Amino acid sequence: MCGIVGTIGKKDTLPFLLEGLGRLEYRGYDSAGVAVLSGNEIHIRKSVGGVSQLVQTVNEQPLRGSPGISHTRWATHGEVTEENAHPHLDASGRLALVHNGVVENHKHLREELIGRGHVFRSQTDTEVLAHLIGEAFDQNSERNRPALIHAMQETLRHVRGTYAIAIIHADLGEFLAAARSGSPLVLGIGKDAQFIASDAVALDGWVDDVIYMKDQDIAALDGESFHLATVSGSAASPPKLRKIELEARATGKGRFAHHMLKEIHEQPETLREAMKGRLDLEEATARFTGLHRSNEQLRDLKRIILTGCGTTFHAALTGEYLIESLARIPVECDYASEFRYRNAPIDPETAVFAMSQSGETADTLAALRESKRKGALTFGICNNVFSTISRESEGGIGLRAGVEIGVAATKTFTSELVILSMLGLMLGRIRDLSHSDGEEVIENLQSLPDLVARTLECNDLIAGIAAKYSKTRNFLFMGRQANFPIALEGALKMKEITYIPATGYPSAELKHGVIALINEETPSIVLAPQDDVFEKNISNIEEIKARRGPVIALGTHGDSTLRSLCDETILLPAAPVFLTPFLNTIVLQLLAYHTAVALGCNVDKPRNLAKSVTVE
Ligand code: F6R
Repeated sequence: MCGIVGTIGKKDTLPFLLEGLGRLEYRGYDSAGVAVLSGNEIHIRKSVGGVSQLVQTVNEQPLRGSPGISHTRWATHGEVTEENAHPHLDASGRLALVHNGVVENHKHLREELIGRGHVFRSQTDTEVLAHLIGEAFDQNSERNRPALIHAMQETLRHVRGTYAIAIIHADLGEFLAAARSGSPLVLGIGKDAQFIASDAVALDGWVDDVIYMKDQDIAALDGESFHLATVSGSAASPPKLRKIELEARATGKGRFAHHMLKEIHEQPETLREAMKGRLDLEEATARFTGLHRSNEQLRDLKRIILTGCGTTFHAALTGEYLIESLARIPVECDYASEFRYRNAPIDPETAVFAMSQSGETADTLAALRESKRKGALTFGICNNVFSTISRESEGGIGLRAGVEIGVAATKTFTSELVILSMLGLMLGRIRDLSHSDGEEVIENLQSLPDLVARTLECNDLIAGIAAKYSKTRNFLFMGRQANFPIALEGALKMKEITYIPATGYPSAELKHGVIALINEETPSIVLAPQDDVFEKNISNIEEIKARRGPVIALGTHGDSTLRSLCDETILLPAAPVFLTPFLNTIVLQLLAYHTAVALGCNVDKPRNLAKSVTVE
């Protein structure tokens, strides 16, 4: 989703602006642009396509100056064109603005502006903000820095929707203003320069100290000092200076061809990291200091709601099986986008876990806020522990997966699964789960990184199968119990990066309609580990084979039934049943990855997708 990068105080801002945009590429975008103040004029360059195209444009028509703001755009209002790319100018052409978010009442605001004689150059909702703030500034006889902050306050009070914005003005020299509500923005505070960015990853190496702006904050930077105000005009809470996270630093691809492949292979390590210091063998339980709740308080809970979007929602669905079986507490899962508008009965005995890799997903954030409003206990499960969801939750659990650059989520998904398993263990141990059962769960969890490492050894086998089936026009994925959500996730990964239609469903649903799709050209990927429902899965495979459907089965080492029945068999290390979803996930991630590579798709930046979905 859109990315913002800006700086003030350096003589030449371009190197930072372009490098910063490059580091935000993972968020997903379709055009890019930059504006700098040079002399007393603002100069803008824009291009459709990647940051490399913008670099080329800037090389052909060089820019120099400070302050500067830049942007990667993920189209929401208006097509992917240079006109619609940011920065946008106000009516005077003296103010330039970049925006991440959506102005929901932009139509109404635009009509009012047109009524007052404004002419628009783009179809974007963002340009409305530039015109409104520019107009309010021009109407103020002072025309100084406080006048710009005042113009932002006046305008932003009338904006419905979400925004992170950055502004420079040709009449104000060394001055950069920014504001946020619903979309992330972080300030980098250096000795002789200051920075802003949508993600701290863009700031690494340029500053050590950062401030995560809060919703409704307005920042005024002059290169030497900064000041925080709020949209309402009330005093801003004192800023918290933090050291830039070390994890923001590991952003290379290493020996791997793609970030996604690297991140798939990091999973033994990220799972270890997620469990580190959280398993207590003596008490046979798990501990999360960030929940800030005693066992007594957690024992009073009557219900758990897990909410999130996309891949994270699939982790939540898997968590429902894991937590209910370990802790015997009812768990509900809801898409955050549905939950936020559903009038779900919630009370103080309900705990809502807002799950999000980025911690910035607009729907999940709204679901969290709605739950809070209704009195639920709210917790965040996020990879970015400085994100808005982390900060707004009453307690939380960090995934510790490190930065995930590949747009398709992989390592953060299995980290979510392991966190939910540990949560089930912890809640189970303060209820009915015995000490010996708890110990067994811990021992099993401790074996997980090694099981995942051994599963990764199937890489070449999977690559061969992927190449063979890459021309497929439709894939079906199925599984039962906790492997049913893994089938959904496998289908989502396949769609996201290969663009091949893929559907996931519970194996038993085959007979209830999906069987109509079975033919010689439609492969079914069946998750059939050695578990209580193995025989049921075999019956489903028989039904598919009876209709000549190709079957790619994921089973357990030593299984001969699958080998004799299926076209392709991938046998994985024997594992406790509750760990089979992890191992199947690895295979499905690799299957999607190698299929995408065989098709020549852009694995790390699939079309139309954004890493952090900060608009509704
Ligand atoms: C899929 C993917 C998305 C995200 C979804 C939620 O590979 O990445 O489906 O899972 O947009 O994102 P987070 O977890 O950041 O809230």
